[in-house]
Amino acid sequence: MIDTCNRNPATAAIRLLLLAATLLLSPLTAVDAADVFKGKTVYESYCAGCHGPSGRGEMPGTPNFTRGQQLIRPDLSLFAAISTGKNAMPGFRGILTENEMLDVITYIRTFY
Ligand code: HEC
Repeated sequence: MIDTCNRNPATAAIRLLLLAATLLLSPLTAVDAADVFKGKTVYESYCAGCHGPSGRGEMPGTPNFTRGQQLIRPDLSLFAAISTGKNAMPGFRGILTENEMLDVITYIRTFY
């Protein structure tokens, strides 16, 4: 009975799909996802001086993250801004790793 099932191409396809789904949903992939807790540490060390601990903006001209200012954009666009800097804001390329920048993006999104 089980042998017959194994030879059924439809069953094999379903098994493959289940395997793929299991792999996709497995906690292992979470290791690669941005880490909001690490992002908080990065934010407090490198960003809060100008953007304020609450993200409201300490220094004049900084966006108010609690109102979503400058946050309604894809991660990649925020990544570019943080990496290269903008006007009074320094670029963080070479100071933060790419993962740290992605972590801090995840964190600043929690303000809004
Ligand atoms: C020296 C002060 C300063 C520091 C430190 C700083 N910022 Fe900024 N940031 C600014 C200012 C000022 C602006 C507004 C720039 C403008 O629009 O002219 C800004 C803008 C931004 C923007 C919007 C960029 C855009 O394209 O409009 C993001 C996102 C941002 N900062 C994130 C961060 C993160 C994350 C950190 C820490 C890794 C950080 N900033 C550190 C001053 C700072």
